[in-house]
Amino acid sequence: MPVTHAYAKLNLSLEVVGKRPDGFHDLVSIMQTVTLADTLTVTPATDLDIICDVPGLPPQANLAYRAAALLRDTGNLKRGCTIQLGKEIPVAAGLGGGSSDAAAALVATSRLWGLPGSCEALAPLAERLGSDVPFFLTGGTALVEGRGERVTALPPIPETWYVLVKPAFAVSTAEVFGALRPEEWTDGTATREMTGAIRSGLGVSIALNTLQAALFCLYPNAKACFDCVERLFPGRTMLSGSGPTIFAVCRDQADATEGARRLSAQFWTAAVRSCSPPREETPCR
Ligand code: C5P
Repeated sequence: MPVTHAYAKLNLSLEVVGKRPDGFHDLVSIMQTVTLADTLTVTPATDLDIICDVPGLPPQANLAYRAAALLRDTGNLKRGCTIQLGKEIPVAAGLGGGSSDAAAALVATSRLWGLPGSCEALAPLAERLGSDVPFFLTGGTALVEGRGERVTALPPIPETWYVLVKPAFAVSTAEVFGALRPEEWTDGTATREMTGAIRSGLGVSIALNTLQAALFCLYPNAKACFDCVERLFPGRTMLSGSGPTIFAVCRDQADATEGARRLSAQFWTAAVRSCSPPREETPCR
């Protein structure tokens, strides 16, 4: 059975530009997939089932399971499958792990059940599963707007190495958005400038993440982690998503590996590089 990879993402920039009538926030963000990945193996079965190696994640709450169930129910299909999910991406970390698993499950179960698996078929389901899920049907480098459902593929950035650093606690995205004050909203200019640089083929470092202040206020330990990374990578450190993973833009693989090694006594760390997933796993690219 073929293995599908579900890559993690970083937000190279994330600006909240306002609040919507449905309670969600409007974003302007640049997302980038990186080489850290979960694996999904989907095999035929009568019922729907998921086997996952992370304790304390109930099967029915798993976004990969919910994606397969949504695909089955929307198409009124009498089909099943067993999803074997190998987790490498930390849970509730700001790296989009659950959302990426959901997108990968949509693609892999479509293939198994002989469905079209096109962008047109899967994008509406992705949007229902979560704000970050549509991006993972595109992957690579993309400008993400609205609640997360408007995804514009960008040319790949020059290969970049990052060190990821996560303190030992999980964060609720809803809680961080809830703590954001309107004064912290921005107009999206920094992200649009970065979009222009990427379209011109320039290398990019970091822009800003307007959720950072809200997270640090709620979780002072996240700020302490940021300060540790910033000391090693001054001016090249920022928060991904709603956190608590902090990342730094590195000069090369050796720089990322050395950073990961130095911070690993205190935190979960990984050295990763930017990547674009294969087209057969990203129907909207
Ligand atoms: O869509 P998802 O389930 O990932 O969102 C989790 C929570 O994060 C939402 O319930 C909402 O409180 C917040 N959120 C938001 N605006 C977004 C995305 C998420 O307010 N664009």
